[in-house]
Amino acid sequence: MKNIAIVGCNRGIGLALAKKYKDEGHQVYGFCRKTSNELNELGLAQVVEGFDVLNPQELEKLIQTNIDVKFDRLLHVSGILTSESLDNFNYEQVKKQFEVNTIGPIASVKSFLSTLNENSKVGLVTSRMGSIEDNSSGGRYGYRMSKAALNMAGKSMAIDLEPQKIGVYLLHPGYVQTDMTGNNGNINTTESADGLFNVFESKTLSDSGTFWHMNGEQLPW
Ligand SMILES: NC(=O)c1ccc[n+]([C@@H]2O[C@H](COP(=O)([O-])OP(=O)(O)OC[C@H]3O[C@@H](n4cnc5c(N)ncnc54)[C@H](OP(=O)(O)O)[C@@H]3O)[C@@H](O)[C@H]2O)c1
Repeated sequence: MKNIAIVGCNRGIGLALAKKYKDEGHQVYGFCRKTSNELNELGLAQVVEGFDVLNPQELEKLIQTNIDVKFDRLLHVSGILTSESLDNFNYEQVKKQFEVNTIGPIASVKSFLSTLNENSKVGLVTSRMGSIEDNSSGGRYGYRMSKAALNMAGKSMAIDLEPQKIGVYLLHPGYVQTDMTGNNGNINTTESADGLFNVFESKTLSDSGTFWHMNGEQLPW
């Protein structure tokens, strides 16, 4: 039984990951801005509310005040998606996606560092839309750039945390039916969480700093 921290677990893919890890027999600790009925029904070991990555300075205090366990896994799932084109380029929206999708996960991992052990693993839920090589349709400036920058941050973290034997993995959840996609997508959250679980759990320190699709394929940067 492992201790698992999941950030952004009140709905969507994060909620499904919390359920998956609990069903697999682990102790799951959920972090979110505000809990939900679905999350409360899961009966996790603990739910910590008020975890808003737009307040990066507050996160470490929140962890230190509420948490007295070490985590074997940290999954940062939170993210936002808005749409910008060259013709309709909303600067504020682009900045907000960087705050939530790039700086947010860095602040989140930093706030958990003292709770991680040798051989802990960090999973950052990014997106294939952040792959420069895979970009064949353009647009979505803020989302694509913020996730590409998250991929870069994850690679740096992998290098920086290697001496502590902490692995860092960039994870694409597939095209998933959630609020973010208006419930469009090829798979549901349970299928996504099953795939993410298998991929994340199969990785070892020698894979740290790599980018994976939930279907098991390695993705290009
Ligand atoms: N769905 C897809 O097809 C797809 C594809 C590729 C990548 N992804 C990535 O997968 C992750 C989960 O997406 P999803 O589809 O499950 O989306 P979702 O249902 O919209 O859930 C987004 C989650 O992020 C949280 N969040 C948003 N802003 C936050 C903030 N400032 N601080 C803390 N948490 C915040 C939300 O919490 P609140 O309820 O408080 O807003 C919610 O828990 C995201 O990183 C997304 O980019 C999704």
